[in-house]
Amino acid sequence: MQPTLYIAIRAARAAGRILLRYAHQIDRIRVQTKRHNDFVSEVDRQAEAAIIRELRAKFPHHAILAEESGAQSGGEFEWVIDPLDGTTNYLHGFPQFSVSIALRCRGRLLCGLVYDPLREELFTAARGEGALLNERRIRVSERRSLEGALIGTGFPFRDHRHLDAYLGMFKTVVQATAGVRRPGSAALDLAYVACGRTDGFWELGLSEWDMAAGALLIREAGGQVSDLRGGDRYLTTGNIIAGNPRVHQALLKTLQPHLNESLT
Ligand code: IPD
Ligand code: CA
Ligand code: CA
Repeated sequence: MQPTLYIAIRAARAAGRILLRYAHQIDRIRVQTKRHNDFVSEVDRQAEAAIIRELRAKFPHHAILAEESGAQSGGEFEWVIDPLDGTTNYLHGFPQFSVSIALRCRGRLLCGLVYDPLREELFTAARGEGALLNERRIRVSERRSLEGALIGTGFPFRDHRHLDAYLGMFKTVVQATAGVRRPGSAALDLAYVACGRTDGFWELGLSEWDMAAGALLIREAGGQVSDLRGGDRYLTTGNIIAGNPRVHQALLKTLQPHLNESLT
């Protein structure tokens, strides 16, 4: 295992302990609203601080991009961190949330993890070395089309600009597949594609820290990840389609009629 990944795992477990500690006293957690339907709690902040402390101790010169504290510049290596993905779930006691950490160098993702502390599930990937769930190799599903497929998604609940386009996509996907799920932690949704629990996923308006680790997991598990046009700009546009190679292609094709100029 890459030493960097090993340290990231330690950092994620430290964050996970904080998330679990407060999960039983959510009524007492102080919460602030960043913008419409965008919440941050002292738990997000504490978990993020714990991750950064662990990473900084070993890699003092690496740059950091973390959801709550923003960017800290450094060398060409950069950690991309979401300390609590699924804050809305967490604050409601809805048991689906994760920690997401990825390392990239000049835009290339090198390693990443998504950690679900409630289920003790740790998804890890290192570039060129495959993807693992609790140290066992994982692969994307083998489904060959949307027929019978289970697809994950996220609703555009903060920014409603693309809600109509999204609802058009949703209708088409519901009609073409066995079902659509909206669990509420995009990083974990991507990890579920990587291990074949879902066949594909799409969402609009995500941030880099929601996607970076999950995207590497999927690629290393034999799947594909793209923006809405099939290109590589999903981390920039925030719009992502993922899946096993056939389901990814099918989703891409199915969603095309719903795109407009501002949806890329
Ligand atoms: C959110 C979750 C959610 C997705 C949102 C994200 P947060 O992250 O990943 O599933 O639909 O768009 O912002 O705010 O809980 O870290
Ligand atoms: Ca997130
Ligand atoms: Ca978050």
